[in-house]
Amino acid sequence: MRITVVGTGYVGLITSICLCEMGHAVTNIDIDDKRIAQLKNGRSVIYEPGLQQLLENNLKERRLFFTIDPRIAYAQTDLIFIAVGTPENPDGTANLEYLQEAVYAIASHIEKDVIICTKSTVPVGTNEKIAEMIKDMTPTHLNVSIVSNPEFLREGSAINDFFLGDRIVIGTEDEKAAAVLQELYAPLNTEIMVTDTRSAEMIKYASNAFLATKISFINEIAAICEKVGADISQVADGIGKDKRIGSSFLKAGIGYGGSCFPKDTKALVQLAGHVDHPFELLEAVIGVNNRQHTLAVAKAKEAAGELAGKRIALLGLAFKPNTDDIREAPSLTILKMLIEENADVIAYDPAAVLNIQSIFGNEIQYTENINEALKDADLAIIATEWDQIIQFPLVQYEELMKTPLIIDGRNCYSLSDIERHSITYISVGRSPYAQSAIAKV
Ligand code: UDX
Repeated sequence: MRITVVGTGYVGLITSICLCEMGHAVTNIDIDDKRIAQLKNGRSVIYEPGLQQLLENNLKERRLFFTIDPRIAYAQTDLIFIAVGTPENPDGTANLEYLQEAVYAIASHIEKDVIICTKSTVPVGTNEKIAEMIKDMTPTHLNVSIVSNPEFLREGSAINDFFLGDRIVIGTEDEKAAAVLQELYAPLNTEIMVTDTRSAEMIKYASNAFLATKISFINEIAAICEKVGADISQVADGIGKDKRIGSSFLKAGIGYGGSCFPKDTKALVQLAGHVDHPFELLEAVIGVNNRQHTLAVAKAKEAAGELAGKRIALLGLAFKPNTDDIREAPSLTILKMLIEENADVIAYDPAAVLNIQSIFGNEIQYTENINEALKDADLAIIATEWDQIIQFPLVQYEELMKTPLIIDGRNCYSLSDIERHSITYISVGRSPYAQSAIAKV
């Protein structure tokens, strides 16, 4: 079977390379010739653990091909995965421009029967529109099947998620196409669900909205814990043991970011509004998350007073560990607020410094070394729970900082470890630990 994947972004590239790993030959097409040139040269265009090696191997094995030529990609292929971006429009709806361009190119170049599978996250009903567009543009003798096949890949563990996902959703009214996809995915040993197209599209939005809801819920509970003197880590542990609730996505912090949750929650709110059912719960989830992004700076001001002229080490810039992705990262809000406060910021991240630098230029300083960030700092804000930060010896905060004050937005340290140090430590949903407490003992 000849497979084409449209888009060399996160989902497209991971899908292409993982399908190659399953033994298929895959052509990955993109309209960006620079990306294609870089990939042809064996250099990944995204940061994802393990991906660079798999890219090199599959290029060497001649299973993986990159092109910008739609004729090469579409004319003789059997199966096309569309994995182009569906970014956010200013009003929160999904922008389907890239998707429409891809469908147009496909319709203009296919020469044989083909299955088109949409991996991009699209509003409910979009695959039906794709089907209409294809029908209008292609000769009647061609049989084109449309399938919604949402992805559930997490950045940082995407390869693992591809091979060991919790489920594979195949949404289509076309039984033959469903059977082809079932056969393709059978070696993965993952439960395959066949649904109607609209339900598959909805599953993706509902999954992300539910996970975002869990995060905002636990962040609200954390805020209340701070007021009533409870400890959010113990509370999350206690509720998570109830199988009906489940323990994942209950980590309180400064909110979710990334390329999916913020965009998809807003798109679902828009979708609900369009069908005259305002999604009030999800609107509140988004509101709570926006507030969480400002939390670390609010706590910093409360603890340190005026921030102007203060040297602040911002530890962690990526929206989560093991990625260089800063899209919708809380660090962006934090940096904007700190710059407005005229603070003197030095930002650390093991992977995302260049991306942040392209936005903030010389408004702040940058480092890939935690020690350098902490040197003479008045306070440190932790925005991403990188292992490098979790494992960083607490004694170094005492030794390097002018005043060892940590605002930990990701609860990286246990309170019992903190208590052994002369540090003022303010985290999320747990009692603050003041350095002066040591003096009182
Ligand atoms: C998410 C979905 O998990 C994935 O299925 C979908 O395909 C794309 O969106 P991703 O954005 O890579 O994946 O990251 P994820 O690990 O889900 O984390 C999202 C955000 O939530 C991060 O900012 C993370 O810090 C935050 N988060 C996650 C929490 O604040 N608390 C948690 O308990 C879990």
